[in-house]
Formats: sequence, structure tokens, C-alpha cells
Amino acid sequence: MERRKFIKTCCITAVGLPILASTLHSCASAIHYATVTRKANRLVVKKTAFITIKNNKEIFRDFVLVKTEDMSFPICLYKTKNDTYVASLLKCTHRGCELNVGGGIYTCPCHGSEFTVEGNVLEGPAEKKLKTFETIIDDENIYIIQA
Ligand code: FES
Repeated sequence: MERRKFIKTCCITAVGLPILASTLHSCASAIHYATVTRKANRLVVKKTAFITIKNNKEIFRDFVLVKTEDMSFPICLYKTKNDTYVASLLKCTHRGCELNVGGGIYTCPCHGSEFTVEGNVLEGPAEKKLKTFETIIDDENIYIIQA
């Protein structure tokens, strides 16, 4: 490698790594477990769970996680459009590992399967769609229906 090219590569790496680390940190800190209540077969999440304050500004979260004591895996409640939500169980359909959320998809740390936020398979080895739950909304809440 030429000296000039080597120096350029080192400079790009030196500048890029802190930016990457900062981005990853902000992604990780975006995970938020919403407060949830149960009414019969419904999990109730307040719409305000999708709002956070950062630098005195309201920021809207793309998703929140929902988990109660009787659940082995969390549910990801993803806001796909204005007031439209998809609730997916974060249990991989391949061999049951808990999925990670980030970058607008779900990824499995065990064998690399990927799913859309609607639960469809993007990448195997998983072949089956994620378990999803019907959602209903009113002015204040989102209801996840557990059949
Ligand atoms: S358990 Fe998720 S890909 Fe295997």
C-alpha cells in the first residue's frame, strides 16, 4: 500500500470509529420498556410511551418493548405508520432465541435470521413468520390482544 493511501485509510478509520461507536450507543439507549397494564386478554400501553424528551424537544420512538412477569419473551410494539402498530413476539421461529431490535428489523443473535417489523422472514434459517398480535387503538392507548 502506498504511504499516502495508508495515511488516508488510517485517518478515515480514526474519524469513523468514534462516530460508529456514538451511533451504536444511541441505538442501544433507544430501547425502552413501556409500562403495561393488563385488562382481561389485553395488554394496555399508553401512546405516550412512544414520546420521550431530549434536549427539551419531544422525540417519537419507533418502537417500545412490552413485557410482563408471565411472559418469557418481550413483545415489540412497532409504530409502522401514523397510529398504526404491529406487535410481534421477539422469539425467533427457528430455535427460539430472543431477537434484537434495530435498524428497522429484528435480528437473531443465534444463527442470523432476520425479520421485518411486520414479522415476515427476510433471511433464514428461520422459515416461519413471527407470532404477531392484533392491536386496537383509542385516543390514549394501544391494546395488544392476546388470544
Ligand atoms: S434461533 Fe434464530 S436463527 Fe436460529
